[in-house]
Amino acid sequence: MQAIKVGIIGSGFAARFHYEALKRVYGVKLEIIGAFSRNPENLNAFCDENNLPAFSSVEKLIDQAEVLHLCTPPVTHEDLCVKILERDKYAIVEKPLTGYFGEDEKNFSGDTFSRESGLKKSLQSLKNILQAEDKSKAGILYAENWIYAPAIQKEKEVIEKTKSQILWIQAQQSHSGSHSLDYGKWRLSGGGSLMGKGCHPLSGAIYLKHVEGRSKNGKPIRPKSVSCRVHAITRMDNYKNNPHLRDSYTDVEDYAFTHVVFEDGTVADITASELLHGGVKNYLEVHAHNHRTICNLTSNNAMQTYNPEEENFKDIYVVEKTGTKQGWSNISPDEAWFNGYQAEMEAFYNSIANGEAPESDSTLAADVISTIYSAYLSAERKGLEVEIKQL
Ligand SMILES: NC(=O)c1ccc[n+]([C@@H]2O[C@H](COP(=O)([O-])OP(=O)(O)OC[C@H]3O[C@@H](n4cnc5c(N)ncnc54)[C@H](O)[C@@H]3O)[C@@H](O)[C@H]2O)c1
Repeated sequence: MQAIKVGIIGSGFAARFHYEALKRVYGVKLEIIGAFSRNPENLNAFCDENNLPAFSSVEKLIDQAEVLHLCTPPVTHEDLCVKILERDKYAIVEKPLTGYFGEDEKNFSGDTFSRESGLKKSLQSLKNILQAEDKSKAGILYAENWIYAPAIQKEKEVIEKTKSQILWIQAQQSHSGSHSLDYGKWRLSGGGSLMGKGCHPLSGAIYLKHVEGRSKNGKPIRPKSVSCRVHAITRMDNYKNNPHLRDSYTDVEDYAFTHVVFEDGTVADITASELLHGGVKNYLEVHAHNHRTICNLTSNNAMQTYNPEEENFKDIYVVEKTGTKQGWSNISPDEAWFNGYQAEMEAFYNSIANGEAPESDSTLAADVISTIYSAYLSAERKGLEVEIKQL
């Protein structure tokens, strides 16, 4: 079997966990041919750490690779995706697939732009990507790790084998604030907590309703309407600043609550925030007609450790974004596995090698973006219900 040639675009946080997961893909032979990033300093650091060639242009990397990992900020995804698909190469694209970044407005502010026009433009960006995919001999693999998290895949099995009707999903991603300096400026991230964090639990919820529909009659059950409220709590004048929550967002929300209604009348409630101490909360709960499941991606109690002195654990990774290693910790013994990063890469390369559609595809990615920007319009209208366009 010939090795599949892989290129990584970006050299920050996501590039690192993609690279770590790629090293553990066993079913398909891979050759990581190198990386490219806009920032030569972090590109060289990433490439030196991992003994990879640093490419001097993205075009060269795309030409030489067969599969490209898009580990760059969301504002760059549309252009890069189209470039990759036009050359008939596969694009493994980090979440969120695309969005609206105010590129057409001179004095753009995420606080004040028209959400109606943001929705229109994000749908246009989606169409541009989906059209490029239609014309391409390759395709998009939507890197939404929640889909491949073992707990979510096990719940898929439960739904399929017991012919469940999901009545209500509650799900959340929250933590104390993103590390990426590009995050928190709408122009680069395309939104705040709902876009950056909410897209994970929202994808999980939409995916499981797709699964239910496909197992019933071959047709996914898709989101139909949404109501949403967003707030910028850490930007309020009366916010009590303390160093443990990041509070440097310029024009995005740091809290979002989103209520989704699906085509069959059932619902999902998604919370996303930057206001949570004690590590990342990644959780999804299914209330079905015949069972109830709680998926704790992080934190979970697979390993619980008491450490009387912070210093003891200075060289030990405990769990993502924990504020302290002193006292009790829910250590994640294999975070990449619980979060689905590992299974995601194995599944992506199996589907590429076998010419099969990925479980996490562009239809799911498009439903998520369409729901998010409809939710922002609802939030502008203080929570009024907005219909979701399906592409
Ligand atoms: N699935 C997850 O759990 C998860 C976690 C974090 C981030 N992400 C996603 O990964 C993506 C990247 O986020 P990150 O946290 O790694 O950000 P980051 O800021 O750590 O890294 C971004 C990298 O992209 C490079 N870059 C920026 N513009 C570029 C361009 N036009 N061409 C080439 N390189 C460019 C930067 O130099 C940097 O190396 C985002 O879409 C983010 O939402 C996903």
